[in-house]
Amino acid sequence: MKKIKPKICSALYTPKVMEIFKNPHNYGRIKNANGIGKVGNPVCGDVMWLYIKVAKNKKNQEIIKDVKFETFGCVAAIATSSIITDLVKGKTILQALKIEKSDIIKKLGGLPSLKYHCSVLAVDALRDAIKNYEDSKKSKK
Ligand code: FES
Repeated sequence: MKKIKPKICSALYTPKVMEIFKNPHNYGRIKNANGIGKVGNPVCGDVMWLYIKVAKNKKNQEIIKDVKFETFGCVAAIATSSIITDLVKGKTILQALKIEKSDIIKKLGGLPSLKYHCSVLAVDALRDAIKNYEDSKKSKK
């Protein structure tokens, strides 16, 4: 039987986006994550989970020690998920909260404008994971 290959319009994307899509960083789940973010886009149906492990650094600041993602979505959704994990690893919570979709798009060397919403998904998943972490800290007090 003839194998069917999915068609991806790589002409839409920068070489950096395609490279990351083919070899995403930090894909997977953190078993004992202390923050989990889940967001979806009801229009395109893409879904993203982002897991964070928070620890204190030598200055007693909370940092994102580990981060992983699982995304069921388009090329841009996977590339932006991967990039956001690279951007936040080792950052303090406050630094991570300052990451905007424009930082992600810049790091990818650009995205087609019809794919900007995919980068919003990554930022929202990160913020949701941090909120989940903060909420679970409050509930332990
Ligand atoms: Fe919806 Fe990419 S098409 S996240």
